[in-house]
Amino acid sequence: MKPGARIIGTGSYVPPTRLTNADLERMLDTSDEWIYSHTGIRERRIAGDNISTSDMAVEAIRQALEMSQCSPDEIDMVIAGTSTSDYRMPSTACVIQEKLSMPNAVAFDVVSACAGFINGLAVAKSFIESEVYEKIVVVGCEKLSSVTNYKDRSTCILFGDGAGAAVVTSDRNGRGVLSTFAKSDGTQRELLWIPSGGIKYPYNPDFTDNGSDKLQMKGPDVYKFAVREMYNASVKVIEDAGLDLPDISLVVPHQANIRIIQGLAKRLQVSMDKVVVNLDKYGNTSSASIPIALDETNRAGRLNAGDLVLMVAFGSGLIWASSLLKW
Ligand code: UT7
Repeated sequence: MKPGARIIGTGSYVPPTRLTNADLERMLDTSDEWIYSHTGIRERRIAGDNISTSDMAVEAIRQALEMSQCSPDEIDMVIAGTSTSDYRMPSTACVIQEKLSMPNAVAFDVVSACAGFINGLAVAKSFIESEVYEKIVVVGCEKLSSVTNYKDRSTCILFGDGAGAAVVTSDRNGRGVLSTFAKSDGTQRELLWIPSGGIKYPYNPDFTDNGSDKLQMKGPDVYKFAVREMYNASVKVIEDAGLDLPDISLVVPHQANIRIIQGLAKRLQVSMDKVVVNLDKYGNTSSASIPIALDETNRAGRLNAGDLVLMVAFGSGLIWASSLLKW
């Protein structure tokens, strides 16, 4: 029997500073009523100047290592899902490796926006199933406040900072990632992107004025895509695992908008008490949102051995991905 890739420890970190809807009311033409009714978000966490993406990842991984009773030198691989890397080079994963002293690991980033954790877990799964590596850390970590335009009310109300991590190891008892799926559509990349600051349009101070070095989004278009493809991605992994929708114990969706999550639950015919929601506290933390929600659920004792856990995400690319776990 080939080994499965099972999560044996989780951890998460959000910075202490809160940016509430009331704070945003003072900064922009918006209201708590509009934000909450359109998104479900009450507040988000902001890292500030002294906390970097890797700092948040390190705190989340420390907790995951502790829960899994693994020491840093046992780790074979560090995969960081992030679109807000500390440096343009090298990867944030290499910075994390240094900060946590993981001398035996290979470290690299997976850049797939909000699908970063699921795709990182898919990479971990393939290395574990092929018996190349045994213990892998996957972390989703983002400092979205650094790429958010706080003059744009249609985006800045959504995003927050944080990190969530998992230690994944080989399991021969049928537990772990049962199936995984990912797809993208690069023709739609301008629906959600940061146009400048990369190689094509290198940094220029003028960008700060026109906002092109910050995240830009056509919200309603992304919304429609999310509702459609999150459902399709969910059904795909359930079918690939030979299971049916009613078998699912818990859904841990990307935390972008409560209306998207409720729409997904309705189409999946899953009641909301089986769906993890924490976006009211943290907003959308991109690749960190699913592992933070998974960790909070795990620490709350809501996960039992054998539970079937569906994770599903969508984001810039456009990209969408899902993963089905037997806990
Ligand atoms: O990780 C993936 C990230 N992306 C997403 O999750 C985005 C998915 N999309 C969404 O969540 C929603 O489209 C938003 C929450 C971004 C926007 O909600 P919406 O219901 O689609 O609003 P809208 O963009 O259609 O705007 C409706 C109105 C507009 O006013 P007019 O033109 O009808 O007069 C906006 O100017 O709401 C206005 N508006 C706001 N008003 C108060 C937009 N943002 C705000 C705001 N406060 N913050």
